[in-house]
Amino acid sequence: MRRRVAVLISGRGSNMASLIEAARRPDYPAEIALVASNRPDAGGLAHAEAAGIATAIVDHKAFPDRAAFEDALDGVLRRHGAELIALAGFMRVFTAGFVERWTGQMLNIHPSLLPLFKGLYTHRQALKAGVLVHGCTVHFVVPELDSGPIVAQAAVPVLPGDTENTLAVRILKQEHVIYPRALAWVASGRTRLEGGRVSFCETWENRGALVVPD
Ligand code: GRF
Repeated sequence: MRRRVAVLISGRGSNMASLIEAARRPDYPAEIALVASNRPDAGGLAHAEAAGIATAIVDHKAFPDRAAFEDALDGVLRRHGAELIALAGFMRVFTAGFVERWTGQMLNIHPSLLPLFKGLYTHRQALKAGVLVHGCTVHFVVPELDSGPIVAQAAVPVLPGDTENTLAVRILKQEHVIYPRALAWVASGRTRLEGGRVSFCETWENRGALVVPD
């Protein structure tokens, strides 16, 4: 049984595209049932339509407040039979009420090694801090921003001469690797949220340390 996933976007949707691509495989444990955007001009909508996926626009500007927007969005998600939500560059912060309705069923991807560098401009924050390792994180969504239990991370080196842009490119490539994997783990039940922590059904081999520079 493939779990029905709604991907929420606000922009270009490259992570959305990586999830759509992964879900084309017949053995992938999830299908992308819906791509929804809060912005009518989100570039990713055209890609989703071209891939034959149902799309919806729930424009937050059309609602008097956050709760009304979220009720409308929740209605669309339920009408499409969504069981899981994957936030992929979705630029609205949800109320605790909405997050609690989807506890353990909503993932987000963030371009830093959380809990470092929450919020916006993560690559700028990393360069300013002088870290030598940076990366991206897939996590379950909790009411506090960028703070939920971690499902997957990828680390990349920060190279001499890196700019926000070169770092963003290097990290985005890894986002496209870890998000489809993390979604598959959650959709198959191998990874779940239990008592506020992520439980993994299997352990993985110890691959030693990533050391930068090596
Ligand atoms: C990604 O960097 C993601 O980590 C962050 O927003 C960006 C969205 O990019 N949450 P895209 O729309 O998936 O290309």
